[in-house]
Amino acid sequence: MFLRIKPASPIPFSLYVLLFVQTVTSSLPWGDINVIVVTDVHSWVAGQRHLFPQAADYGDVLSFYEQLPHDEQDLFFVMNGDFMDGTGVSTIPPTHLLPILEQLPWDVVNMGNHELYHSETVEYMKTSGFIHHWKGNYLTSNVVWSSTVKPIGSRYTILNATHHRARILTFGFLYNFQGNCNTTQVIRVQDAVKEEWFRSVLRHEEYDAILVLAHMDYQDELVSVIHQAIRNIVGLSMPIQFINGHSHRRGSAQLDNTSAAMEAGHFLDTVGFVSFPVKQTVLSSNATLSLFQHAFIDAAVPDLARALEQTSLHITDSGEVLSSLIRQTRDLLQLEQPVGCAPQTFRLGLPLDDPSSLWALYMDHVVTPKLLRRNESLVYIQGTGLLRYDLYAGPITIDDIIAVTPFNDSIYSVVDNVDGELLRALLQAMENSSSAVGTALPQFVSTLLSYDVIATNRYELLSSDYDAPRICQLISLIQPEIESSCRPSLYLLTPTDALMINLWIAYIQSQWSCEWHQDEEQPSAVFFLAMLFLFTAFACLIYHFFAPGAFPSNGNTSRETLDDEKTPLIRNRYAGSSCERDLPINDTTEHKKAASLMLPQHVLVSVFEKDQL
Ligand SMILES: *[C@@H]1O[C@H](CO)[C@@H](O)[C@H](O)[C@H]1NC(C)=O
Ligand SMILES: *[C@@H]1O[C@H](CO)[C@@H](O)[C@H](O)[C@H]1NC(C)=O
Ligand SMILES: *[C@@H]1O[C@H](CO)[C@@H](O)[C@H](O)[C@H]1NC(C)=O
Ligand SMILES: *[C@@H]1O[C@H](CO)[C@@H](O)[C@H](O)[C@H]1NC(C)=O
Ligand SMILES: *[C@@H]1O[C@H](CO)[C@@H](O)[C@H](O)[C@H]1NC(C)=O
Ligand SMILES: *[C@@H]1O[C@H](CO)[C@@H](O)[C@H](O)[C@H]1NC(C)=O
Ligand SMILES: *[C@@H]1O[C@H](CO)[C@@H](O)[C@H](O)[C@H]1NC(C)=O
Ligand SMILES: [Zn+2]
Repeated sequence: MFLRIKPASPIPFSLYVLLFVQTVTSSLPWGDINVIVVTDVHSWVAGQRHLFPQAADYGDVLSFYEQLPHDEQDLFFVMNGDFMDGTGVSTIPPTHLLPILEQLPWDVVNMGNHELYHSETVEYMKTSGFIHHWKGNYLTSNVVWSSTVKPIGSRYTILNATHHRARILTFGFLYNFQGNCNTTQVIRVQDAVKEEWFRSVLRHEEYDAILVLAHMDYQDELVSVIHQAIRNIVGLSMPIQFINGHSHRRGSAQLDNTSAAMEAGHFLDTVGFVSFPVKQTVLSSNATLSLFQHAFIDAAVPDLARALEQTSLHITDSGEVLSSLIRQTRDLLQLEQPVGCAPQTFRLGLPLDDPSSLWALYMDHVVTPKLLRRNESLVYIQGTGLLRYDLYAGPITIDDIIAVTPFNDSIYSVVDNVDGELLRALLQAMENSSSAVGTALPQFVSTLLSYDVIATNRYELLSSDYDAPRICQLISLIQPEIESSCRPSLYLLTPTDALMINLWIAYIQSQWSCEWHQDEEQPSAVFFLAMLFLFTAFACLIYHFFAPGAFPSNGNTSRETLDDEKTPLIRNRYAGSSCERDLPINDTTEHKKAASLMLPQHVLVSVFEKDQL
């Protein structure tokens, strides 16, 4: 059967035939060369169900792409890197993810920094045939294998635009990422554009426009570095289109009269569209900038349909096959397994003193009781790149927890027996570094404030495997002698084991159970639970009536509220340093000593550069 209909669709079959037969004109701003863009999807192949009521999965995106007017337009489809890390479909190595990605007819794939954290991932991309699958169009203009110094994919490719008989010279750059595994090497963009191959390609290939996939923010200064290097060789009339990524936002910029940049969101919240001219069109135009256009389509089924001028998205055969592969993969990995129910939504980007702050939930309610078990000699310090996604009110699945903490990090003991003075200096430097650029969060959070450190005490520092070596690096900068004893090791004293995700699961299972949210489809279970609830409520009422004072006076169901811990919240500790001003300082000598142990600001920033985007 050529046509497939989504089962629940209210649109009659004949209308589908009509829609399919009619030429799709579509509302997109078509140009000479047209490109559909996805970037930084981070394994959100099933779409973002918390963001859109009808989130598009990769199968829907494929259906959309297949129905664009390929017979009339020069049209390409690109992926700009960072397919790893974000949901449970992303494993190390990515055995479940790569077969899904290979179903997409991408013309070019660029490499993101997340493909480079683990050598198992990048080696599997090669041995599994994934890189080969793209037939020379997996691009790594500035990433090489350390052993051979040869590029992992291809340095460039030429796309053939048949309608315009045009050739599009295409590169794939990565920003100057330093956190890559040591089997790979990222060549600085400034150096890559000086290499002979780059100049030679620009001088000797024949092409009508240049497309640069650049896994870097569209406002990154490295965009200008590439832009200038190309311009110096090709002159002003050659169109250059940048497709950006990494900063996880939507944006666009004009670089000069014949070049533009655009970036299309993240986590499959956006299907990007960009169009640009070939050189011949530029030469015959007196308003060249208007030839560079773009559009951002919400990655929701109705929005994709609207962009095709369909009333309801028609699902193609391959779209259907891909959607079911995604469903099967998620079933196999048991990602829908329920864990509990969140009483409210917790947001990643909120400052720590906000009642809906995800970071405050993590530090005060997950880490302090479950990991540290309120042992005041233990201090947990964490870079804020660790958590990645909001936790939404209502039923929580394993995949929702993986989305919050996708790196499968473990807890590490960074260093044991650190004296209070050194710890205070470290925390002071971290507190001073405060907010990371563009967010309300500091670069670090810690379960102890520098002010609360007791100089004569000794502490054990805990962190994640990702941040532990960086903390060693910082401490060694303050006190070089400590370098030899700073040997992070797995911390195995947690209730379950050292895996961070288990801390979350333990917390949610113990505090946020939600029997009545499950089995909603089964009336008998709902009925039974309703009866149980009524009975309990009745029993409570009777009990309350006869034994006042046994219940909190505000009448909240305490199990569903956040304040599960008996000790008062320590959250306002993060609100600022007001307590430092309010409280008298008696041990001035101690403070003087601590002040001599100092770390320059720029060092901190460089050690903890925000690589985890
Ligand atoms: C997470 O890490 C643990 C320990 O390193 C490993 O056993 C487990 O398989 C990993 N989980 C995933 C989904 O990769
Ligand atoms: C474009 O055509 C050239 C030959 O003219 C060929 O070498 C190249 O592989 C083609 N590009 C793609 C992406 O197929
Ligand atoms: C890469 O790192 C691993 C372990 O982290 C180490 O054993 C190996 O020697 C390193 N290789 C190179 C080439 O530095
Ligand atoms: C860019 O275009 C505008 C008008 O289209 C023109 O005034 C300006 O001189 C152009 N700039 C360059 C550098 O060519
Ligand atoms: C630019 O082109 C338009 C039509 O293509 C023409 O009407 C207009 O006069 C031109 N302007 C200049 C300044 O050449
Ligand atoms: C608290 O942590 C310290 C440092 O790891 C440890 O030596 C001590 O035994 C712990 N105290 C308790 C009560 O577990
Ligand atoms: C923190 O910042 C304040 C003011 O900017 C400065 O006086 C102090 O020396 C800094 N402390 C550290 C440990 O960097
Ligand atoms: Zn990313």
